Amino acid sequence: MKKRILSGMRPTGPLHLGHLFGALTNWVMLQKEYECFFMVADWHALMSEYEDPSKLSEHTIECAAGWIASGIDPEKSTIFIQSHVKEHLELYMIFSDFVPLGWLERCPTYKEQLRELSTRHLHTYGFLGYPVLQAADILLYRASAVPVGKDQLPHLELTNDIAGKFNTLYGKTFSQIKPVLTKVPKLLGVDGRKMSKSYGNFIALGDSEKAIKEKCAQMFTDPKRIKLSDKGHPDECNLYSYYNLLRSESAAGVYDYCTKAGRGCTECKRDLASVVSDYLAGIRAKREKLLKNKSKIRDILEHGAKRARKVASETMTEVKKAVGLT
Ligand code: TRP
Ligand code: SF4
Repeated sequence: MKKRILSGMRPTGPLHLGHLFGALTNWVMLQKEYECFFMVADWHALMSEYEDPSKLSEHTIECAAGWIASGIDPEKSTIFIQSHVKEHLELYMIFSDFVPLGWLERCPTYKEQLRELSTRHLHTYGFLGYPVLQAADILLYRASAVPVGKDQLPHLELTNDIAGKFNTLYGKTFSQIKPVLTKVPKLLGVDGRKMSKSYGNFIALGDSEKAIKEKCAQMFTDPKRIKLSDKGHPDECNLYSYYNLLRSESAAGVYDYCTKAGRGCTECKRDLASVVSDYLAGIRAKREKLLKNKSKIRDILEHGAKRARKVASETMTEVKKAVGLT
């Protein structure tokens, strides 16, 4: 029997290259080896977006469309929306009873998010419990591994702590899970910072060629190369890492003309825009086609939720028995 994995993403904005290379490419490969559950974590999104959830439903559908367009195959993997499987909340509630506040207050991601999203009011009961819901997401499916980026490690540690405490209190029910760290290649946003929705520095999977051109034109280059005649340092230039990742066969040529001051950065940016557009062309077309037929996406998600509910309800039967709920 194949081992099972579960992972999720929050639908808080458009999917971008950071999601593609930071998670999706890896998920697509994992489909061969594992039984996969991929979840659009809309309850988690609401924890930070509750003040303005007007785009939540749109982002949720787009998230699923972007996954499928990038190669997640609904025939092989179970794709579903978190809020369509009520068992997540049941398990979350049971965990909430015994998770010490200190575990959550000390969580580094909590402190970081409060700082980063300081314009939003996140000193809430729900937001503090973010990792408890995530633990429920994972343990509900008895996933043996969870593919995530390094930033999520504290949540996986907490998941194991919660599983351990549950077992101590009510008898052995959950196994420990293993993180499968996604090796994230270097790909920064157009301003040289981490690619992120909150910085508005991303290239989205659905961006038009025109938008990609404009974004590439804004990109920061080697700061030491000021004049056309200055030799450049590709290893210190964000564009070079894009070439490496998106079209590695062109990277040597870029390295060459850059270090010899053979071409200017403006041309280099213009070329990159075509490289990015070409790379995304297939994904963009598939995504647009899917989004023209939203009811098909909804069918896929409903089918996924059915499969998810089956596994989730089996776990909950066992859990409820263990804790004495009838
Ligand atoms: N917290 C994850 C993130 O921000 C999203 C997430 C929610 C998740 N539930 C999960 C990831 C369960 C893995 C497993 O990226
Ligand atoms: Fe960067 Fe290209 Fe300019 Fe070199 S030529 S510094 S790789 S943008």
